[in-house]
Amino acid sequence: MNLIEAEKRIKKLRSEIARLRDAYHTKDIGTDDVYDSLNNELKVLIKKYPEFEDLNAGENRVAGRPLDKFEKVKHKTRMLSLNDVFSEEELYDWEKRVKKLLSSNTKINYFCEVKFDGLAVTLIYEKGKFVRGATRGDGFIGEDITQNLKTIKSIPLELSPLLGKEGEEGGNSKNHHPAFGTPPQKGGEEIPDYTEVRGEVLMSKKTLIKLNFENEKNDRPLFANSRNAAAGSLRQLDPKLAAERELDFFAYDIAEVEFSRSDLKSSKRPDLYTHSEKHDYLNRIGFQIDKNQAICKNLKEVTAFIKKFEKIRPDFPYGTDGVVISVDDLKTQEILGVIGKAPRYMAAYKYPAERATTIVKDIKINVGRTGVLTPLAIFEPTSVAGSVVSKATLHNADQIERLDLRIGDTVVIEKAGDVIPKVVEVLTRMRTGKEKKFKMVSKCPVCGSGVEKKESGGKKPGFKNSKKPGFEESDKLSVAFYCTNPKCPAKNERSLIHFVSAFEIYELGPKILRRFKDEGLITDAADIFTLSKEDIAPLERFGEKSAENIIKEIKLKKKIPFSKFLFALGILHVGEETARDLANNFGTLNKLYNAEIEEINRIENIGPAVSSSVYNYFKEKSNLVFIEKLLKNGVTIEKVEKKKEGKLSGLTFVLTGTLSSISRTLAKEKIISLSGKVSSSVSKNTSYVIAGEEAGSKLTNAQKLGVKVINEKEFLDMLK
Ligand code: IVH
Repeated sequence: MNLIEAEKRIKKLRSEIARLRDAYHTKDIGTDDVYDSLNNELKVLIKKYPEFEDLNAGENRVAGRPLDKFEKVKHKTRMLSLNDVFSEEELYDWEKRVKKLLSSNTKINYFCEVKFDGLAVTLIYEKGKFVRGATRGDGFIGEDITQNLKTIKSIPLELSPLLGKEGEEGGNSKNHHPAFGTPPQKGGEEIPDYTEVRGEVLMSKKTLIKLNFENEKNDRPLFANSRNAAAGSLRQLDPKLAAERELDFFAYDIAEVEFSRSDLKSSKRPDLYTHSEKHDYLNRIGFQIDKNQAICKNLKEVTAFIKKFEKIRPDFPYGTDGVVISVDDLKTQEILGVIGKAPRYMAAYKYPAERATTIVKDIKINVGRTGVLTPLAIFEPTSVAGSVVSKATLHNADQIERLDLRIGDTVVIEKAGDVIPKVVEVLTRMRTGKEKKFKMVSKCPVCGSGVEKKESGGKKPGFKNSKKPGFEESDKLSVAFYCTNPKCPAKNERSLIHFVSAFEIYELGPKILRRFKDEGLITDAADIFTLSKEDIAPLERFGEKSAENIIKEIKLKKKIPFSKFLFALGILHVGEETARDLANNFGTLNKLYNAEIEEINRIENIGPAVSSSVYNYFKEKSNLVFIEKLLKNGVTIEKVEKKKEGKLSGLTFVLTGTLSSISRTLAKEKIISLSGKVSSSVSKNTSYVIAGEEAGSKLTNAQKLGVKVINEKEFLDMLK
């Protein structure tokens, strides 16, 4: 990318980010991931081209602005945002920045809690009574949504009576959610004259499913996630409708507590010296607090908390997108202060996004086991849901059309669960005009045969609206293209399995090969050699480690003896032995390719059926294309060493039964290395039958034909 291109891209990114920010904060649409992903690209670009830094640009300002339909309220204390960190490394960088600002002997405790993915609100209580609640808006001015907030059961309309004598029970168990532990009991405190509580309004995952089910039935648009659903519900002008939505509230901060009586005894005031004490206090006065919280002595403990919650997260009843980490001590928080839109003393650790944006470099066609042609989008390696990916399935040509996807487009990719990612949206506003339209091939890229159109799919005929979230493109009735050649190598699963076993790529069993093919990662055996770790790691049950092992093994086996290469091709009638004879006689692939049928026929042990099959194999164009592809993808054939005559020269052996001190494979190799031959069946030309334990019919045959039978010990002696 040159300077001019970078400037153009930055401009595009800024305007799309601004649009998304507006939509996200005021219209309850869009998802955080896409926004974050574009922002990330912008950050990287600005770091590389600092001349385009602009302090007035959107990325340096707080998001959101008040809506028109509710009354505006000015916040007494600004509602801030949080700075995100996306890795352990960034977390440590944050700590470094924090420590730099503090004296070296300051002891830091961290408070960890769940980062809810809902809508931030502020709640104001005067003399313990709920008087007003508002959204964040732009941080300074929000929308007054008091009436709607009043419908949420977990928002107390009155703070708990803590007015009992000192030591007496306090806490409002009426508002306390039983799932989140018993509230700490403490009495004797007075309710402040003014209390401002901050927290998140949420819709549970269960309620969202119910709501979307109803919406679906009534042909109303669905909510993409619980954040949008919660936000959309709160913005209902009719509180009755808001009430139907079963929203929930979790408190996480206190912006202010004020007592008008300055002479109030300190025992009547809450002890609020740390963020964790704020949480306890919130719980005592009647708010629901999530029990997944911890005070950590260092970042190691913080990381452990993050990992622990990551496991709980899928089953957590509410949408979450990370962990909020705070410097626990409030005095230290004050010293650290706020910079820009976020406090320095807090960081939001975000779990890997399931959606990300990237640029499509190319669209490749894969041929599946059924001959179906599947387009694949190829892009720069991009991190999504914790793994780096560089390909995404496009299902079929129809979908490319529906998405209006062109090569060069900026797209949103999604990795739901542990499957290969898919392209879910094209950001058409990011276009420069240089994007290229995709055209479906008219010939099979594997065998060159014609291609035909067929209808396929249609698993869920009841589903009407394909624009709705949750709708699977693959579930819809669609037109797909197929290779018309019944013998197309891409359709032959057995030859793929045979190839891999001949190459001794032990990591790739039949199940894995089938999976790779179904995911569109490979069309034929030659594709195996272009696989990367990034292709495999995102698949369910694989992960980084096993992907690494597979790639290592493939790389190792790229270099192969000529005989094994020939055997791997799966030429009719060419088993291991014949392949060895061919390799030893011709020495190179080129010589064999150029050989006349008579030359092949002249080789000892090779009859007319074999020679014509070998000859014809090299006349078939698709076979040559395949071999060329193998060589292009890095397969190298080792030269055949002209062997000196060994001591077993002229002798043919047949193995039967189990040998106790040597494997069959090794015994074969030893014989061959000493110029002997190994055959699978006994004939009058057999020199020796080596009989191990439980020798079978071959032994009987040898006895019938009068062939000499030797035992394991006698055989081993011959090798000496
Ligand atoms: S602490 C300084 N604690 O995340 C303002 N915020 O991305 C942050 N959020 O605006 C207050 N869960 O809406 C805090 N446990 C939690 C939170 C949390 C979710 C939201 C909050 C904030 C946004 C920033």
